[in-house]
Amino acid sequence: MKLFRRKHTADLQAEAAKDQSLNRALGPINLTSLGIGGIIGAGIFVLTGHAAAQHAGPAIVLSFILAGIACAFAGLCYAEFASMIPISGSAYTYGYATLGELVAWIIGWDLILDYFFAAGTVAVGWGGYVVSFLKDFGITIPVAFTSAPYNHVTPPDAQWWNLWQLFVKGWVSTGAVLNVPAMIIVGVITILLVIGIKESANFNNLIVALKLAVILTFIGVGIAYINKSNWHPFVPVVDAVGNFGWHGVLRAAGVIFFAYIGFDAVSTAAQESKNPQRNLPIGLLASLAICTVLYIAVSLVLTGVVNYTQLNVPAPIAVAVSSLGPKLAWLTFFIKIGAIAGLSSVILVMMLAQARIFFTMSKDGLLPPVFGAVHPKFRTPWLSQLLTGAVAMLIAGLFPIGLLGELVSIGTLLAFAIVCTGIFVLRFTDPKIQRPFRVPAFWLVAPLGVGFCFFLMSGLPADTWARLIVWMAIGLIVYFAYGHKHSKLHQGVTGKSDQPR
Ligand code: ALA
Repeated sequence: MKLFRRKHTADLQAEAAKDQSLNRALGPINLTSLGIGGIIGAGIFVLTGHAAAQHAGPAIVLSFILAGIACAFAGLCYAEFASMIPISGSAYTYGYATLGELVAWIIGWDLILDYFFAAGTVAVGWGGYVVSFLKDFGITIPVAFTSAPYNHVTPPDAQWWNLWQLFVKGWVSTGAVLNVPAMIIVGVITILLVIGIKESANFNNLIVALKLAVILTFIGVGIAYINKSNWHPFVPVVDAVGNFGWHGVLRAAGVIFFAYIGFDAVSTAAQESKNPQRNLPIGLLASLAICTVLYIAVSLVLTGVVNYTQLNVPAPIAVAVSSLGPKLAWLTFFIKIGAIAGLSSVILVMMLAQARIFFTMSKDGLLPPVFGAVHPKFRTPWLSQLLTGAVAMLIAGLFPIGLLGELVSIGTLLAFAIVCTGIFVLRFTDPKIQRPFRVPAFWLVAPLGVGFCFFLMSGLPADTWARLIVWMAIGLIVYFAYGHKHSKLHQGVTGKSDQPR
């Protein structure tokens, strides 16, 4: 029954107020910028074109609205939790306060999928853009050092329960050695993150300003070139392989959901925020709102400027601009710079978030103490950050981009669904607790949030579900082998716990 013990929300609030080991340097602007830094990246710069060309056509705009609504519900629930329990563990801590230790562990383990693999995936995308950028200047890096040595091809007849086919069979050697650019960017960002939160936030602010400038310029310039005939038909009819139509809009929403991931990372900076009760909800909701509006505008302009059938390319926004003629060559260049910068801030925010979750899990005894070490001078969770960097480097260097993207989406959707459930439960179990931010109409928003997340998850392929389940099973083994025995809650070291419910 110890498995379902939960932490008192009041104890967590006291813990958050007491622990000042990390540097409280971030205000509302920095937090909003952190959110935008984590959100705008490979999703809009890479995946949008593929989703429009393969699944939704110009109706990709509706897919962005749909995924945006799901994120808005989750974002509101995150905001209530973050204002109530401003601890760096994010959804993991929220789970601890509502559904007990086992569920908290499950979310923490699940978030590893989210942040670790997102950092690795985006680093691979970053490498791709850099290679193409250097090529424009006549510098060619040998392919052997710019791509993954392995690729995994799931056999078309693979059954979702056949773990051999999903995990072991299907690995092929590509002949490459390592993806060196992807590893370098992870290494550089790791060093920055170890040096300090303020330095990292300043770097992020700079990049966010640049990527916002690039996106706004694209929208501003592109609007004049929209050819409305490109928007017809708005929802293309279903083709021979079953793409497009309204089902295609849904499928595309599942794919571009990746573009929204990142606002949740704001909540992991809780212990580095000034006045987190007020500023975290601002950072979470403002970054989400700004990016939703930008995504809708970008997708309208993109599909208005070029026909969606031409967008199945790795750099769709650059391709759209190139189609406008040689006088806008400067904009293509600017967009590539924006994408390179934009992807690097996503890597930064993802790795920052991952290290903070490890930090909090270690403070609770569920992970070894080494993850909780704070650097005496830099006041960052440096060992946790270095370990995060080392593993993300390996992922970025060895694995291809396609393999992990859907896993990241399913992992995040699960975390969002649990957060929405937690908000609903806590309104009944702890109705009196102080809530500086309250979800309006929680009885509607929270269940809709859960529903939307499972709706989007249902659109993801069965093998992605199977990989999620295997990942969770490994997590349970780790929990029972280590976390359960070392949990400080069980040993009575941190706060009191509620009785098992
Ligand atoms: N939202 C982030 C991106 O699109 C993960 O790169």
